[in-house]
Amino acid sequence: MKIILGPSSRELGEKIAELTGFERVPVAFRVFPDGETYVRLEASVQDEQVAIVQTTSKPQDSNLMQLAFMANAAKRNGAKKVTAVVPYLAYARQDKIFLEGENVSIETVVAMLKAAGIDQLITVNIHAETALSKFSFPAKTLTAIPLLAEHFVKKGCTKAFALAPDKGAMYIAQQAQQILGGEAGSLEKHRDRHTGQTTQTGTHLNVKGETVIIFDDIISTGGTIVGAAQILREKGATHIYTACVHGLLIGDAEKRILDAGVEEIVATDSVPSKNSKVTLAPLISEALKAL
Ligand code: R5P
Repeated sequence: MKIILGPSSRELGEKIAELTGFERVPVAFRVFPDGETYVRLEASVQDEQVAIVQTTSKPQDSNLMQLAFMANAAKRNGAKKVTAVVPYLAYARQDKIFLEGENVSIETVVAMLKAAGIDQLITVNIHAETALSKFSFPAKTLTAIPLLAEHFVKKGCTKAFALAPDKGAMYIAQQAQQILGGEAGSLEKHRDRHTGQTTQTGTHLNVKGETVIIFDDIISTGGTIVGAAQILREKGATHIYTACVHGLLIGDAEKRILDAGVEEIVATDSVPSKNSKVTLAPLISEALKAL
C-alpha cells in the first residue's frame, strides 16, 4: 500500500507512514488566488492500493474537496483501490432529518466521495454508528477511547470516575471505565432542536471526593463540558479533567472549559491542536495493516 499525506493531517499521516512502512506519495498542493485548490500526485500509484489520510475538521468544505481531488487523482492515475482515512468525518452529525425541510448532509458527502473514487473509508469515533448505514461503500469507525483512557492511567488517574456528559456517550464512558477501573456514569442532556440550547442534569450522580474525567466524542463550543463541570463542582468532585476524540474547540471553548474548573483538556490528533496529546497513529496503522 502507498500513502498520501493530505494537508489537513500531515503530521498524523507522517506517523502512520512511519509505523506502517507504507511508501509516501508526494503531492503538490496549491491554492489559487480565488481560493480554489490544485492537487497533483508526484509519484506513480499505478496498480497500487492507496490510503489517503485527510481529516475534515475546519475548514470542512475545503478539506472535503481536497480529499475528493486526491482520490480522483489516485483513481485517474491507475490506483487499484483507494482507502480514505478520515479521522474526523465532517457532517456525520446530520445523519437524519431532525426538522422538516432539512437535508441528510452525510448522504451527500458519501455520494461525493464515492463519485471521486473512494472505495472504502476508515474514520474514528463517528458521532453515531447509524451514520455508517448511509455509506454505499465499506466504511468503519475505530474507537480512540482506550487510548485516551490509557493517557490518564499514565498520569496516575487509575480508578478515576468516567463520566459521559449525556446518555448517548455512555458507551464511551464504559469503554474508558474498562481501562481506568473505576466507576462510570452519565448526565442527562436535552437539546432544543430549534434554538440549539441544551440543559443538563445529574440527578443520581455521586462523585463527592472523586477525580472525574468527562469523556465525549466531540468538544465543539465547549458548552457541554462547561455545563458538566458546573454540575461536578456542585457535587463535590475533587479533580475534573476532560478527554475527547475530536477537539474542535471552536472560538474560546478552551478558555471557557478551563475557567469552569477543568484542569486539563486531552484530545487526539484527529483535529490537530495543542490539545492533541494522544495520537491516533497506532490505532489507524493497525487498521490499515489489517485491510
Ligand atoms: C453531542 O451529542 C456530542 O457528543 C457532543 O457532546 C457535542 O457535539 C459537544 O458540543 P459542544 O462542545 O458545542 O457542547
